[in-house]
Amino acid sequence: MAYDNLDIKVRKGVLILTINREKALNALNQKTIEELTHFFSVSAPRRKKIKGIVLTGAGEKAFVAGADIKEFLTVKEGEGSDFAQRGQDVFFMIENFPKPVIAAVNGFALGGGCELAMACHMRIAGAQARFGQPEVNLGIIPGYGGTQRLVQLIGKGKAMELILTGDMIGAEEAHRLGLANHVVPVGEEVAKAREIIEKIATKGPVAVSQAIKCVNAYYDKLVDGFAYEVKLFGTTTDTADFREGATAFVERRPAEFKGE
Ligand code: CAA
Repeated sequence: MAYDNLDIKVRKGVLILTINREKALNALNQKTIEELTHFFSVSAPRRKKIKGIVLTGAGEKAFVAGADIKEFLTVKEGEGSDFAQRGQDVFFMIENFPKPVIAAVNGFALGGGCELAMACHMRIAGAQARFGQPEVNLGIIPGYGGTQRLVQLIGKGKAMELILTGDMIGAEEAHRLGLANHVVPVGEEVAKAREIIEKIATKGPVAVSQAIKCVNAYYDKLVDGFAYEVKLFGTTTDTADFREGATAFVERRPAEFKGE
């Protein structure tokens, strides 16, 4: 399927997914949410050979400046929860994607943009990046998971402050708080994200996918994360990859994993 607002490039096995609405600072309108949903539910799972996904925004100014406020104004009374649910559904797909998804935050990551970055497995912030949940300025609250994932990443006190004041923070503070994994010079966000994906691609693919599930399970109130880890540890020890990884260690050679 051709997308209007998503740009897809695959380089050396790493897929670069760019939200492409530069004139609106890559704001997420419903069409973009629909396209992201199709991409993560249909297109990305079919691309068996990709090592991971770097998610970024077009241009030099913004990663994503939030939900599209102009379009949001047309949401009718009683429709707000459905609007939020559609965004949350696709953000869960990103969070649970079995290969690494890394946000290359190349500018403003506000509202739904900060929430999109937080749904990714990691965030690389360019030195110019600005993060924030400014929804209270509009008289609404974050609706794409911000009240939950910001607490998970930076703790309740600071999350409460950012969400209640609507203040933006820069890349260094985001890094200090644990929101950004790394800060890099402007323009090097995608390269750093690629570098991490390349490193992960040398590991056992089944182990990587099971580790993503287990880390996410910590935040699932219906799942006993320790019991889940025991179960998935058992699935990894039953793989050919485990035999290969352990044998390669003993033979002092690099492992050649097949993802089986
Ligand atoms: N939705 C729609 N259009 C947006 C937008 C958004 N979230 N953010 C920016 N734009 C548009 C502007 O309207 C402008 O378009 P026009 O030239 O056609 O008017 C263009 O992008 C450039 O923006 P600015 O002129 O405002 O650029 P700036 O440098 O002066 O300011 C900014 C940049 C601080 C990011 C500012 O644009 C801004 O505050 N944007 C809104 C951020 C926001 O409130 N995000 C939260 C949205 S609600 C949400 O996301 C809810 C949720 O949780 C799901």
